[in-house]
Amino acid sequence: MESNHPAHDYQALSKLVGRAPALFKMIEELPAVAASEAPVLIIGETGTGKELVARALHYLSPRAESPFVAVNCGALPETLLEDELFGHERGAFTSAERRRVGLIQQAENGTLFLDEVDTLVAKAQVDLLRVLQDKKYRSVGSSTECKVDVRIVAATNVPLQQLLHSGNFRSDLYYRLCVFLLKLPPLRSRKEDIPALAAHFLKKHVPNGKGDLRLSPGATAALMAWDWPGNIRELENAIIRGIHLCRSDCIEAPELGLVLCGTDSAMADSAIARGLSFRDLKKATIEIFERNYLSRLMSEHGGNVSRAARASGKERRDLGKMLRKYQLDPKSFGPRASSLPDSAYLTSS
Ligand SMILES: Nc1ncnc2c1ncn2[C@@H]1O[C@H](COP(=O)(O)OP(=O)(O)OP(=O)(O)O)[C@@H](O)[C@H]1O
Ligand SMILES: [Mg+2]
Repeated sequence: MESNHPAHDYQALSKLVGRAPALFKMIEELPAVAASEAPVLIIGETGTGKELVARALHYLSPRAESPFVAVNCGALPETLLEDELFGHERGAFTSAERRRVGLIQQAENGTLFLDEVDTLVAKAQVDLLRVLQDKKYRSVGSSTECKVDVRIVAATNVPLQQLLHSGNFRSDLYYRLCVFLLKLPPLRSRKEDIPALAAHFLKKHVPNGKGDLRLSPGATAALMAWDWPGNIRELENAIIRGIHLCRSDCIEAPELGLVLCGTDSAMADSAIARGLSFRDLKKATIEIFERNYLSRLMSEHGGNVSRAARASGKERRDLGKMLRKYQLDPKSFGPRASSLPDSAYLTSS
């Protein structure tokens, strides 16, 4: 189905990379879903692209020229969320000196994206139901209802069926929200998309003037072997690290900052499947190990090279050389910065 905004269409769809059948089918259907105006519920683990898809739905819809307003329902306490969403009247409470327009009104004629919708408390669920059913809401302290024309797109990383069974989410709200239910698959179940996503993020993040960067075969094997608990966001972060840490026009595996956690056998499988030579795989595996080992060692010893050398049984000079090879600055592991480098490279396993 055609939308009224070809320029927006192209932009919204070109940001979504995915050839794996589970995602590709959804991307193909997005223009039709967007044009329908019906509520959409997007389900997926963290980092799978829920907000990106919500934005695409907005920009593909006839509402593209009106605002897209995102609200993270889990980020605000109950009373504040109500105030944020619906606004308040002057004098509604002691500090309410003037009337405040809520986010729902700011999204008039546009799209209201309710992220982490599973965290909505019972009262907010009732209010949202009223918006979905009758396009009406009441601001805090108001005796009259206002009309509003918004399209609701909601997202969650909790399987809502689970919440329905536990009684924490109203089933009438659930069924109104999920006229369209879009399930975003985790990256580990669509690894065939990794090379295209990596290329997309290289293009997106390589700074002007840094020329063309590419991934070494070892780096590609490492990306394919990783399980990606943080999904596409985690992949994007790995590529950003690679871009900034690489010392040539080719990003090597350790520069991606992945931590090997029992993935070496998966890495071997993927390397064999991709026809990577034993030599390349061994080099990539050793480099990843060395970089992780050095980061952890330096963290443990607060950036003190002499102590780290003693503890690891290496000559201080050799350790210094290895740190330089991986561009690890001992100062960044010092007492005040000790949590920074580690958390920058460690991902959950
Ligand atoms: N299919 C995709 N193609 C290209 N980039 C993507 C894709 N999906 C997600 N991304 C990128 O990955 C990052 C994370 O996506 P997004 O913020 O939409 O995830 P999310 O599901 O909302 O995560 P969270 O649950 O943690 O809020 C963003 O930078 C987004 O642009
Ligand atoms: Mg999100």
